[in-house]
Amino acid sequence: EVSSMPPLQTTLALIKPDAYPAHKNHIANKLKQCKLTILNEKELHMTLGMAQEFYREHEGKPFFEDLTTWMSSAPIYAMVLEGPSGVKAWRNLAGPTNSETARETAPWSIRAKFGTDGSTNAVHGSDSPESAEREINIIFNINTDSQVATTKPDTAV
Ligand code: PPS
Repeated sequence: EVSSMPPLQTTLALIKPDAYPAHKNHIANKLKQCKLTILNEKELHMTLGMAQEFYREHEGKPFFEDLTTWMSSAPIYAMVLEGPSGVKAWRNLAGPTNSETARETAPWSIRAKFGTDGSTNAVHGSDSPESAEREINIIFNINTDSQVATTKPDTAV
């Protein structure tokens, strides 16, 4: 029944350099199984400055330089996802941040299958609807409202 569905949410998924392009198709198939729809997607190669802005909440932490250097070292794949409880749904499918933990506690997850450890962990997912909006703006340079609007028929124009 429609009324029992959790509300639709938009989130941002990134396939990191260790999993892109090798595991993109596998990950896209998993999204369908988890009722997550891709609203927009693209390959990109982040500049260091983009990575620093994207991960600014971690500025000052010991891993900040390694993380931002790595994420700007090679092409990645970005997807705007939508689904029931989309933020949580994608983070559940991704699994725990540390891929070694993921193999112990969520062996079906993407990080369990394709990640290595806490830093080389295959994918990123926004941690809240607010983070998702900020991150989608950085990666796609548009807000989530105009994102949805682009999928509507252009009879309204
Ligand atoms: S924290 O401090 O608890 O918020 O950090 P955490 O959630 O564990 O990780 C936040 C993101 O930083 C990445 N990370 C690292 N990158 C490189 N080197 C090291 N040592 C490292 N530790 C954590 C981690 O993969 C998270 O990336 P995202 O893209 O958000 O999953």
